[in-house]
Amino acid sequence: MEKYVIRGGKPLFGDIEVSGAKNAALPVILSTIVVGDKCVIENVPDVSDVRLCLNIIEKMGGKIDKIDKTTYAIDTTSVKAETAPYELVKKMRGSYYIVGAELGRFGKSYVGLPGGCDLGVRPIDQHVKGFEALGATVNVDGKHIEAECKKGALKANNIYFDVVSVGATINVMIAASRAQGVTIIENAAREPHVVDVANFLNSCGAKVSGAGTDTIKVNGVSKLRGCSYAIIPDMIEAGTYMIAAAVTGGKLNIKNVIPKHLESISAKMEEMGIEIEELDDSVIVTGKADLERINLKTLPYPGFPTDMGPQMCVLMCLAHGLSLLSEGIFTNRFRYVEELRRMGANIKVHDRTARIEGGHPFLPANVRAVDLRAGVAVVLAGLVANGRTEVEDIYHIERGYDDLVGKLRAVGADIRKVDYPDYTFQS
Ligand code: EPZ
Repeated sequence: MEKYVIRGGKPLFGDIEVSGAKNAALPVILSTIVVGDKCVIENVPDVSDVRLCLNIIEKMGGKIDKIDKTTYAIDTTSVKAETAPYELVKKMRGSYYIVGAELGRFGKSYVGLPGGCDLGVRPIDQHVKGFEALGATVNVDGKHIEAECKKGALKANNIYFDVVSVGATINVMIAASRAQGVTIIENAAREPHVVDVANFLNSCGAKVSGAGTDTIKVNGVSKLRGCSYAIIPDMIEAGTYMIAAAVTGGKLNIKNVIPKHLESISAKMEEMGIEIEELDDSVIVTGKADLERINLKTLPYPGFPTDMGPQMCVLMCLAHGLSLLSEGIFTNRFRYVEELRRMGANIKVHDRTARIEGGHPFLPANVRAVDLRAGVAVVLAGLVANGRTEVEDIYHIERGYDDLVGKLRAVGADIRKVDYPDYTFQS
């Protein structure tokens, strides 16, 4: 078993390079299945969810060549339908993109139900609604998603999502890229990773327009061809390091970012008094002592991202006074609060709002990562707390952060990954 050991209380100074976006890389890699040719994907983050996707494609008959640390050649010419390995698929939420890709290419799909972070109820009814609108028959039981289009190819349609869903928007876009006719997706998610997948599909010869707005038009094509494509920088990784500079009272130059993607994060941090300088492809964040309390609600893009809620909560804990953090996306995104309480935070959660009584110092403690962003939040608190903090279950964190320890150590953090015996009771 592995854990992080952190000796906190040190301000961070220096440069941090942001990697490719996990939540763009997963759908781009899996949508190579709908392309059925050789693609070269660049700026791929080295995180376990990405390695899982590449492994799944290989098990399905695809060919993966690692060209360098962040570049892969992915040839899905020989991928067979309905061969996604259940044991791998169930490990992450993004597996459901296999369904859209297989439906678009083969007209049928049989995939294990996705896993991923426990953030409360995470249905896939909007994905199913989209696939059925395109002419597929979809059955979801306790273990699998089975989808088939009797007529062999999907037919375009108009789809209105009842809920703004990143996954459903991307999944239906992938499937519709090879449907017959023009599909209109309304109430679509507008996240940068939705735009990234649309740009990738268009680089392969698809005809997707309107991505980044709430209405996306997909003019289906009968064939797609391979391309070379670079993944956008990870706005959540960037935001996490912005918070690291702020909470430790240091100064970080966070490189390889698209400042526009960070607007809502920068705006709320500046409201707290943090100084943020925006350059073409980097942001410089300088921490300060007396922070202003704020109220915050997480919303679909371009609102404040839900995936930055836990990290922002750590910063809000340092501001004197009462701050409110409302979660507008998931039903149970506050599991991390219990871990922060162990570190001295004074937070009370009622329904989907956390009342944060700030101004109490974080105390070192032994805590665990309960999900990906919850895990990085306790790491941030550990960087602030004077003394030794240990973080277990770090596999959650390593699903979505490329070389977190290396990047933090390079700017002065005393953090290391250590092995420890697994005392889990062997029944
Ligand atoms: C993606 O999850 C991300 N995961 C999440 O990031 C992110 O928090 C989320 O989008 C919102 O931005 C990946 O991209 C792999 P949704 P996804 O569909 O697609 C409800 C991280 O930390 N909903 O936009 O699953 C759903 O329950 C992870 O990197 C339905 O009701 O999120 C939620 O309340 C955590 N029916 C809301 O919509 C559906 O069919 C938004 O979910 C689908 C979703």
